[in-house]
Amino acid sequence: MEPPTLRYRESIKGISGRKSFTYLARAKEYSRKGIEVINFGIGQPDIPTPKHIVEEAKRALDNGFTGYTESVGILELREAVAEYLNTRYGSDVKTSEIIITPGALSAIYLAMISFLDPGDEVIVIEPSYPPYTEIAKFIGAIPRYVPMIWMGSEEGFRLDLESLENSITNRTKMIILNNPHNPTGAVVPPRDIERLFEIAKSYGVIILADEIYDNFILEETQFTSTISFSEWRDYLLYVNGFSKTFSMTGWRLGYLVAREEVIAKLSNLAVNIWSCPTSFVQKAGVIALKGPWEPVKEMINLFRKRRDYMVTKLREIRGVEVWPSKATFYLFPSIEKILSNLNIDVDSFAEQLLEKKYVVVLPGTAFPDKAGRNFLRLSFSLNIKLIEKGIERFKEFIDELMYK
Ligand SMILES: Cc1ncc(COP(=O)(O)O)c(C=O)c1O
Repeated sequence: MEPPTLRYRESIKGISGRKSFTYLARAKEYSRKGIEVINFGIGQPDIPTPKHIVEEAKRALDNGFTGYTESVGILELREAVAEYLNTRYGSDVKTSEIIITPGALSAIYLAMISFLDPGDEVIVIEPSYPPYTEIAKFIGAIPRYVPMIWMGSEEGFRLDLESLENSITNRTKMIILNNPHNPTGAVVPPRDIERLFEIAKSYGVIILADEIYDNFILEETQFTSTISFSEWRDYLLYVNGFSKTFSMTGWRLGYLVAREEVIAKLSNLAVNIWSCPTSFVQKAGVIALKGPWEPVKEMINLFRKRRDYMVTKLREIRGVEVWPSKATFYLFPSIEKILSNLNIDVDSFAEQLLEKKYVVVLPGTAFPDKAGRNFLRLSFSLNIKLIEKGIERFKEFIDELMYK
């Protein structure tokens, strides 16, 4: 008989860690040895949290704001979230329709575990943010993947709504829509969002909309938030957070917006998992939303310049096809030609690039399911000098592999 320490719940056995975190640990390991690693794998802005936000957290600590708070989050922060969303997106969100969570990922977890039963199906647009799949697997729910269609370096990625609709079965309960989309950098056009809601209504499924990159719009593109459609709120679980916009990944602060009765259910579970979000971090969140927003704007302008620079540089490399992402801080170039020429897969490409040139990129396979197998994700969350150096090494690596 197995010792009790090995008698896990069945569904935890198949859960994977995250490649991005593994690569991060390896990059740190090389750095400790004094090797300069160029890390394009990072999923967080490289600027510090704006000072006024940090100051507010310090102030809250000094004032002794260190106890438990309401499990749905302090009213002041829920008011700030409602005001922010309603001003920005013309929505009609009330404070009773908001739950503050320790990061957006906890909101996603809370939503998935509250709505999905074992055997239920959830539509995931691939390539995808990995936790959607792992959480589904943990619950015993089944991810059904709908690929983003790669239209080439001029047009980028397109959501195929027809195949999405065809993937719906009578077990489908949820569609996860990550828009703007990690890792492709695509933005779903407004007419597709409306169509998605119509699909959700006709099949009785709910949309979990993860809009964590909504401030990272790099083009004059028509980003439309799902929260702006007040008539569709019965079909929506809306998730956002502070990690990316305010460079607050380590603070752990996010939120979920849904109908009041949904929030009541979710908060009953939340209070039994994390009691409440961290008190003083919530105070900082209020100030983050109230502004000033200049540091955010400056960051986006900086990221736009880096994206343009990186696209130009990558386009100089034979075999790399890159589309200038419309949003996020990632590029998702295809290296299909290189891979088929060399007869290697994208994982071993990324692995060798790290081992030989100390450059971290994430293989597209890090984003379930398989649609990313000819792609790499490169973050432009590092300064131009490092980008230049990293792309130079990347080019050298390809030249050596292809033309040795
Ligand atoms: C698509 C997407 N959703 C959610 C998150 C998680 O955000 P948080 O740090 O607020 O949990 C990330 C972070 O990488 C992400 O890329």
